[in-house]
Amino acid sequence: MELRSLPDDFVWGAATAAYQIEGAVAEDGRAPSIWDTFSHTPGKVDNGDTGDVACDHYHRWPEDLGLASRLGLGAYRFSIAWPRVVPQADGVVNPAGLDFYDRLVEAQLEAGLTPFPTLYHWDLPQAQQDRGGWAERATAERFAEYAAVVAERLGDRVTNWATLNEPLCSAWIGHLDGNMAPGIKDLTTAVRASYHLHLGHGLAVQVLRESVPGAKIGIVNNLSTIEPASGSAADLAAAVRADGHINRWWLDPVFGRGYPEDMVKLYGVELPVREGDMELIGAPLDWIGLNYYFRQFVTDDPSGPAPGFRQVRGPNAEHTAMDWEVHAPGLEELILRLSNEYGASKIYVTENGSAYADTVTPEGAVHDPGRTAYLEQHLAACDRAVAQGAPLAGYFAWSLLDNFEWAYGYDKRFGLVHVDYETQRRTVKTSGLRYAELIAAHRSR
Ligand code: FCB
Repeated sequence: MELRSLPDDFVWGAATAAYQIEGAVAEDGRAPSIWDTFSHTPGKVDNGDTGDVACDHYHRWPEDLGLASRLGLGAYRFSIAWPRVVPQADGVVNPAGLDFYDRLVEAQLEAGLTPFPTLYHWDLPQAQQDRGGWAERATAERFAEYAAVVAERLGDRVTNWATLNEPLCSAWIGHLDGNMAPGIKDLTTAVRASYHLHLGHGLAVQVLRESVPGAKIGIVNNLSTIEPASGSAADLAAAVRADGHINRWWLDPVFGRGYPEDMVKLYGVELPVREGDMELIGAPLDWIGLNYYFRQFVTDDPSGPAPGFRQVRGPNAEHTAMDWEVHAPGLEELILRLSNEYGASKIYVTENGSAYADTVTPEGAVHDPGRTAYLEQHLAACDRAVAQGAPLAGYFAWSLLDNFEWAYGYDKRFGLVHVDYETQRRTVKTSGLRYAELIAAHRSR
């Protein structure tokens, strides 16, 4: 397999997120986040799993960065835990929390890994939730203050910054479906949360621009290609709504186009916009991050959990352990859409990967043909998008390590590296070895 079109300076990376790997939830001044609260609420997470220990990355990070180097990665996308840095509502900075990320960044630079921190990957300090969380404007303002603290400490060494990871999940899954923290099910709260997440993004961009000269700033969205489940007029209309709910609501405002009118009308919730907000939210970015996992088939359903539609199973035979359809052309389509329809000048695939039920052989290997094929197919899709002119600058596999897969707990393994949670032993899977091989081949071509 040859990736002919990817540029020479293509960024090869892998991604993780703080709450999914770090553990050490009560160490060095960290306070609980909404995910600590949620995962400790009976019935919310499969098997009652929590992120209390996770991959113990807080203590084992040198080994984990070593693994990233061993795979030949050039970049590492990780997230900074707000509840470590500004744990409480009083805004007081916890130096030990900052020290951790300082060490982590230093070590990445020493290992030749370009750091791509994300400021918010869903772990809102519980103290902020207690004051209303993302439903309130104040949370966006607190987020910008926290961003300023991190920027001041790391800005001399970090160029590439992501503000939010997948605000769709924070807003829609956290406040509408209720299947993620904070576990609220209310459309008005969800729409307000989506707005304040965007505002927080905009305010953080402003702060980063001021304090980190030359910063390259982006936002990370999870997008899906949408297909109507049938050719009926009702399903076609449902697909338009689903596209609005899943894609356009998250792209239009950050590309300076405001919120899609059809969706504002459909939600029927007044957006708490103040003068100047939309300019902040739509301020130009240096790059856009795309997380892609699967396409979505939707059918009309007035009572659906999302407004006016329901997701149905895709027709492809192949599904991952998440029951997500494997459909690599969707990635190519979305990269081209960002490029052609939104005029994105630089795109990173900031997450892409698959869960399979991996096991370690008696010889200590992990053979994961499903994940290896998924990786190859999606890299080929990236290559095709670039061949058609898309400005794709890098790819981050999700994930470097098996980890706490949110409401699914530890059963769903996405890593290029297997983690035995009993012993914390790491084993590079066949897919990790294949990724390393593809990276090496691309570099030496
Ligand atoms: C994405 C999340 C990431 C991980 C993958 C599987 O939605 O950003 O943390 O859970 O899904």
